[in-house]
Amino acid sequence: MKNYPVPILGSNFPASFVWGVATSAFQIEGAADADGKGPSIWDDFCKQPGAIADASDGRIACEHYQRWQSDLDLVASLGVDAYRFSVSWPRVRPGGAGAWNEKGLDFYERLVDGLLARGIKPYLTLNHWDLPSELQAKGGWADRDTVHRFVEYAQGIDTRMGDRLATITTHNEPWVVSVLGYETGIFAPGIKSRAAAMQASHHLMLSHGLSLQALRAQGSKARLGIVLNLSPVQAATESAADQAQAHLEDGKLLRWYMDPLFKGHYPEDIVAHLGADAPTLHAGDLAAIRTPMDFMGVNYYSRSVASANGPWDAKQSGLPITEMGWEVYPEGLTELLVRMHTDYPVPPLYVTENGGAFKDLVQNGVVHDADRTDYIARHIEAVAQAMRQGVRMEGYMVWSLLDNFEWASGYEKRFGIVHVDYATQKRTLKDSAVWFAAMLHARKNKATAVPQHTTTAAAQTAIEGA
Ligand code: FCB
Repeated sequence: MKNYPVPILGSNFPASFVWGVATSAFQIEGAADADGKGPSIWDDFCKQPGAIADASDGRIACEHYQRWQSDLDLVASLGVDAYRFSVSWPRVRPGGAGAWNEKGLDFYERLVDGLLARGIKPYLTLNHWDLPSELQAKGGWADRDTVHRFVEYAQGIDTRMGDRLATITTHNEPWVVSVLGYETGIFAPGIKSRAAAMQASHHLMLSHGLSLQALRAQGSKARLGIVLNLSPVQAATESAADQAQAHLEDGKLLRWYMDPLFKGHYPEDIVAHLGADAPTLHAGDLAAIRTPMDFMGVNYYSRSVASANGPWDAKQSGLPITEMGWEVYPEGLTELLVRMHTDYPVPPLYVTENGGAFKDLVQNGVVHDADRTDYIARHIEAVAQAMRQGVRMEGYMVWSLLDNFEWASGYEKRFGIVHVDYATQKRTLKDSAVWFAAMLHARKNKATAVPQHTTTAAAQTAIEGA
């Protein structure tokens, strides 16, 4: 049996370092139209033939809306410090504007109080993609009015429960919302227009900055930030053409977001590259986007490789590949964090998502997922490595607590450290969850090693019995 000594798992992680697990509303809640919830663009998108790999939807998902109390018990049993979740905008304000839905607000308020009662810090995300359909009918994120509706939504949530939140994240992965939602159209709302995508991107960023200003003006007690999906973009070869391609792709993925957040402008080479598709800006927009943040989150899954000869085939690298077809490349996380810290005046950073889709081996009620444990352990070590190089890191969160609705991949791809049997909604800790809990427990108790692949029962006894 291979052991990960605890010092490798972060002797340089201070006691204040926040360990967590993450989910998002649409992916786990179900209850698509319960208690006054309005439709979201993901409810609509799932109805489009061919949009979701297994033709599934989010109507039931993990039934978290009904099972939230036992799910929070599960979170608590892992011994984490924090739980990152999102609010479904159409559950709390069904049309995106107009009347608020008390029952929806109550649900999240109970969730927040339930976390606090269990000693877990609530990390709330406002936009994890499920925009109210009524706003999409008016143009969605490509329409500037959505910016103002979002600010109102942020204010409403903060007024109701901001006093009990550790952090409020405005947007999860604006690149995904704009590019996959509006340019390639493989995600909701399924639009295929680069001009619309870039305008949507600008409105997401603007609404982020204006929300921060509005929340500070109303005295929000939560720490405020954004979450980006970032990767280091590496050139496939040393050739000038591949290097140029890497610079371009880095510009579209990283500099397009980091430059306005921290330098007050969009990268000029990308604006030139976009030509007529570059977004329209109003005076003051860039200053708003640059509003200082209290923290920032990064979702990291893999590196990106750029080749002038077209898309890179991950299989040719010889690296392990996840079920999503993504290379397992923890070194990229260190590289990315160090680069963010070096190139930009970033606030304290979190890894707000990291994890992998792997095939689980279910045997006699035990779920073996050694690849996932290995993935998580190696990425935690990559965070430790970045910290040794001077990066200010405050936390690390596993994606995801539960197997759940993986967007266009439906339920076929499982990211959970807790297995969900969708027929019965039974939750079972996978070996990775048992390991993660044992690691956290060992850290708290200053143990020196954590078994990597213990059996669920044995490790659970170890955790409970200790
Ligand atoms: C991220 C999303 C998250 C999940 C993971 C696998 O892009 O934020 O909801 O789907 O990917």
